[in-house]
Amino acid sequence: MSAVTKLDTFDEILALAKSTYHEIFGTDPEVACCAPGRVNLIGEHVDYNDGFVLPMALPMVTLIVAGQRKDTKASVFTHCGGCDEPKHIEFSLLDLKPGLPKWANYVKGVIHNFSEELNLVGKLPGFNAVYATNVPVGGGLSSSAAVEMATLTLMEEMSGKKLESNKKRALICQAAEHKFAGMPCGIMDQMISVAGQNDHALLLDCRSLEIFQIPFLNNSKDLVVLICNSGVRHELSQSEYPTRRKQCNEALKLMDKQSYRDAKEESLSALQSEPVLLRRARHVITETKRTQDAAEALKLQDFAKMGSLMKESHTSLRDDFEVSCRELDVLVDAAINCSGVLGSRMTGGGFGGCTVTLLQRDTVDYVIATMRTNFTKEFNKEAADRLEFYMCVPSNGARRVDL
Ligand code: GLA
Repeated sequence: MSAVTKLDTFDEILALAKSTYHEIFGTDPEVACCAPGRVNLIGEHVDYNDGFVLPMALPMVTLIVAGQRKDTKASVFTHCGGCDEPKHIEFSLLDLKPGLPKWANYVKGVIHNFSEELNLVGKLPGFNAVYATNVPVGGGLSSSAAVEMATLTLMEEMSGKKLESNKKRALICQAAEHKFAGMPCGIMDQMISVAGQNDHALLLDCRSLEIFQIPFLNNSKDLVVLICNSGVRHELSQSEYPTRRKQCNEALKLMDKQSYRDAKEESLSALQSEPVLLRRARHVITETKRTQDAAEALKLQDFAKMGSLMKESHTSLRDDFEVSCRELDVLVDAAINCSGVLGSRMTGGGFGGCTVTLLQRDTVDYVIATMRTNFTKEFNKEAADRLEFYMCVPSNGARRVDL
């Protein structure tokens, strides 16, 4: 089994989208846009707690090719997969409501919020579109934020009306996810999908929504970021996220603070009779600090420090925030015991999805083999064969694409 998983290339998904468009609509598309998925290096479950996060945009994107229609309908086909719902739907732009198929809610929600924001309700031209992606769907790499941000970019291109800032763009997409997809996510995924930059990780202050581009791996030929997709998604991943948000808010109230930014480790003493809330709040407070330290470490190119902060982050997510799972723990343990690995942790919401590992380039094959072997021992060979590995460089955010 080859070490790194072969994903479709950008050119392949563009060609697929164009040929599908031609087949369905009988003409060539007029415009194309794309937006990336992300991997979070550190700062997990703190975006909705006024913390700092440090993600990077992936080279993998969701891409849309589209053309105008004469009416006020949207006709949208998706190759994005990951579900057994209908792939082709038509809906009116005059009456945008969430419904089925679920994947279309991201599209409808963004169009709805975009037109409200810019007073374009009822004024947007109809369009035909085909979506294609090489972001692994449902793998915790923000495939949904990529769909949202690609849609928003398309709306800006097609209407000729631009939003004032990336902050506004991210907020519009986040609101689409809250109101149309029913997922009370933070702001990280949408912000990195629009503001990602080649060769940079993005430090995002989730309270002010200020961003800081931190050069990352731009002149290091030796280090790489390796993502391992566990291929599992536990039921809990949906229900536990809102529960964590509630617990964090309850803890904040008991500590008598307005914001986690004002809470310190000493503040935790107010939670002594609430052990679960204490653990949740301790994760948030320590993870926010670790993320600021990690950004400093990256600036100084102190990758050993960055790696050890990643390991601490995983321990905190596993023991205090309790959003890891056996599969992720086995993968992280396997990685961090290999020489050449600086750090490894679960990434994203948890309960499955991916791990992210910072390691020496020349040890990649060995580390992948070790992760597979340990996974086979703990689970079975079939599960280990389903693991996917992607090596990624920090990439650009949402953009128009030449056809
Ligand atoms: C999901 C959410 C993000 C963030 C992460 C956890 O990816 O969409 O907003 O909360 O989980 O860090």
